[in-house]
Amino acid sequence: VSAGRLQAPRGTFDVLPPEGRRRLRLLRIADEVLTRAGYEPFETPVFEDTEVFARGVGASTDIVQKEMFTFEDKAGRSLTLRPENTAGICRAYAEHGMHKLPQPVKLWSWGPFFRHEAPQAGRFRQFTQLDAEALGSDDPSLDAELILLLDEVLERAGAGELRLRLSSLGTPATRAAYLDELRDYLRDHEHRLSDDVRERLDQNPLRAFDADHPGTRAVMEEAPRLLDRLNPEDAAHFAEVRALLDDAGLGYEIDSTLVRGLDYYTRTVFEYESPRLGAQSALGGGGRYDLLVEELGGRPTPGVGWAAGIERILLAVEEKEPARDLRIYVALAKPDASREGFRLARRLRRDGFRVEIEQAGRSLKGQLKQANRIGARSTVIVGDGYDVRDMDSGEQRHADDADEALALLRETGP
Ligand code: HAM
Repeated sequence: VSAGRLQAPRGTFDVLPPEGRRRLRLLRIADEVLTRAGYEPFETPVFEDTEVFARGVGASTDIVQKEMFTFEDKAGRSLTLRPENTAGICRAYAEHGMHKLPQPVKLWSWGPFFRHEAPQAGRFRQFTQLDAEALGSDDPSLDAELILLLDEVLERAGAGELRLRLSSLGTPATRAAYLDELRDYLRDHEHRLSDDVRERLDQNPLRAFDADHPGTRAVMEEAPRLLDRLNPEDAAHFAEVRALLDDAGLGYEIDSTLVRGLDYYTRTVFEYESPRLGAQSALGGGGRYDLLVEELGGRPTPGVGWAAGIERILLAVEEKEPARDLRIYVALAKPDASREGFRLARRLRRDGFRVEIEQAGRSLKGQLKQANRIGARSTVIVGDGYDVRDMDSGEQRHADDADEALALLRETGP
């Protein structure tokens, strides 16, 4: 029986060198930026009770209606691979009584997420999100802080020029009244709308702002805007977020048509886009979700956060292949030097050097070629004692024992 060649599932990908190092570099940037602002790492399970997302993300969203990887466990419970992180962290906040901790609780994480979408450039069925959340305070400075932190991560990653869209959705009461107004308006212009928008008019009239259909777009130009209907507290909250961003010198566009694909948002919403990407241009986005913890059975707890797509960020980043930065190659002048070479490599590594050793049966000439290929600055040739070779000049110095070799390596700098 000849076995067919197996492939990674549709919409997934393997991370191979040098991509793994680019991702790790981004993770380190995120850790540094977020740690400085008091955010601590957290992790939740990769699958949850389906209910967490059905209630949290919202039953009328595309994510819940079409895109979830849902399955039954052996006891018949419905579980779902997480399509996003915020519902899970709110579930965890309530479950662990995190309201007893000093507020706000600031958290960040990095991990895989799953959405059954049609794969295309920048859109996958398994993708990775960097996520930051602050729970337990509705202070507008948290909104501004998080928006600025994502900007800093993207800037330091080298994502280039970005577009930041910003809006406020207000509170549910304002939103309900506004949605009634919008529905009435849409009904008055029903004949010009796309079928899709008309069908979902009752369930989700806001989606009409997202439509590509020309007739719908024309109708939406004149449609009432939620931003003009905010109550005084929400308007003041939004004004403060804007003032803090202005003060920080961060440019943004107010976009009252900004619609996010999740139902839990209240007040601030935002999204960063890169002109370097095609259709899937959103690098990251988020907003405030002041009712979500309660929706998932916890006590009333405001929250705000964002998530950014790692694969999309790295698509936007133009950079050369990162150097491997290996300093030392341990070469073997004769096969029976392998144990000694192994011992030396281990000692040098424990001393903080980056060391690779010959492990593929090459000739000495082949080994020196390999040392150059990986960018080693020195090669220690293990034979009769140790010859420490400078790979730039070709100059070789002899050492009788490992201590002496180590001293010679130290001379040439870290
Ligand atoms: P989201 O806008 O659905 O928000 O996703 C955030 C980011 O994840 C997107 O901007 C995009 O970069 C990336 N992303 C989403 N779907 C895919 C996909 N299929 N393939 C590749 N990348 C993708 C959220 O998930 C919210 N939980 C954000 C948030 C946190 N709001 C408050 N706190």
